[in-house]
Amino acid sequence: MYTIAIDGPASAGKSTVAKRVAKALDILYLDTGAMYRTIAYKALSAGVSVEDEAAVQKMLENTAVRVRYIDGAQRMFESGKDVTAFIRAHEISKAASDISKHPCVRVAMVELQREIASEQSVVMDGRDIGTFVLPEAKHKFFLTAAPGERAKRRWIELKQEDKLGDETLESIEASIRARDAADASRAFAPLRQAEDAVLIDTTSLTIDEAVEKVLERLR
Ligand code: DC
Repeated sequence: MYTIAIDGPASAGKSTVAKRVAKALDILYLDTGAMYRTIAYKALSAGVSVEDEAAVQKMLENTAVRVRYIDGAQRMFESGKDVTAFIRAHEISKAASDISKHPCVRVAMVELQREIASEQSVVMDGRDIGTFVLPEAKHKFFLTAAPGERAKRRWIELKQEDKLGDETLESIEASIRARDAADASRAFAPLRQAEDAVLIDTTSLTIDEAVEKVLERLR
């Protein structure tokens, strides 16, 4: 059993690469961002301010985040409800970043993440996997790309899904930069490259090339 940690800023291609690497190795892929998104979705639905730590802590008492795999795809459940379809909304990204700074939220999610990693080999992507969740992970990668390039990829993705709305390339880049700054500056388990992580800058790489770089390193 082993773990591969893939951390990095927003929209650096982590989940696409992690999914492909997990498939190539025939092991589980866990998107940890989806867990924070699930908590954020619950808070927004329940009218709980993501900034109010006491209220968030109280909400957690009757919150049950569960990860299930259906037909090989990760799905998120909260108190028995499948919330997977709702957690990718634009407002959830910011709310997930905001709510994830509270230690009570992180402690609960990290416990779940460690439990999953203790049961099987897994490729886990997030912000603090190599530094905090699984510091003993066998392989660690830090995926990054220039903010402009990440914004461009996100813009293309939203356009393809017909979800661009009022967003422009500039507004997307501003949100990405703001979220990275918040994730990197929080006090508890911030976004940071682990000292023993391999840095992969995907700015001028295709997905195939980024996947190949990870696999090459693993070989
Ligand atoms: O990977 P993502 O964009 O779905 O993550 C959403 C937010 O969740 C991200 O801005 C910060 C938080 N997050 C975190 O704090 N730690 C993780 N391991 C994964 C995500």
